[in-house]
Amino acid sequence: MRKQIAAANWKMNLTLTEGEALLDAISAKPHTLAPNQEAIYAVPFPYISMAQAKVGAKTNVYVAAQNCSNKLSGAYTGEVSVTMLQSMCVKYVVIGHSERREYFNESNELLAQKVDACLENQTTPIFCCGESLAIREAGTQNDYVAGQLTESLFHLSETAISHVVIAYEPIWAIGTGKTASSDQAQEMHAFIRSHIASKYGASVADSISILYGGSVKSANAVEIFGQPDVDGGLVGGASLIADKFVAIINALKK
Ligand code: 13P
Repeated sequence: MRKQIAAANWKMNLTLTEGEALLDAISAKPHTLAPNQEAIYAVPFPYISMAQAKVGAKTNVYVAAQNCSNKLSGAYTGEVSVTMLQSMCVKYVVIGHSERREYFNESNELLAQKVDACLENQTTPIFCCGESLAIREAGTQNDYVAGQLTESLFHLSETAISHVVIAYEPIWAIGTGKTASSDQAQEMHAFIRSHIASKYGASVADSISILYGGSVKSANAVEIFGQPDVDGGLVGGASLIADKFVAIINALKK
């Protein structure tokens, strides 16, 4: 059974004190995770230790990084390597968020290197893909997303790609309040799965969790997560509010 995941992406938000208060408020609200469900908090690098201390030994709850370097060590001032993250017991890293692609010029080729760095160091990449509004309006979103997957993931072995989590985040839905409809999400998730199946076979494709991201809220999470190929969400704005994120965790499929 595929893992169902509610992943919070705090992006560059919250002070340390606000982050602590948010995790305390989430802990205080009733939510349980079934054995196939996980909650993940992708926090800014300096808050990783704090978040791990707050999350403690809670079952199926993890702290993630929002990025890592493609290099493992060396003279790269300001960068953080996956080996550093691994040494802090970080299990997941968000790779290739559209904001990193857009503002930091991260290419599919660079992201392939970051994915390799993660997988070679027992860290799971949450690999983001998704098209802009112009591409959606031109109707070429499937080719575009297929290109992102092919160029950054299709060099991997069958075993390696099975350890990747994919997040489909249409750029036009990020932070805009304009969510993809559940049908649009399902259509793209099914396409992503079929594209993976075309290279790796159906059983590998069926084992990979594909999260939806882009204006997920407590009000739409049940419907979106209820789609057969949607295995949870990567959540920005609504993950910063305890009530909303708890409702999103509770919307995961069992
Ligand atoms: P919003 O949920 O704020 O639209 O952000 C989505 C996102 O980019 C998560 O990575």
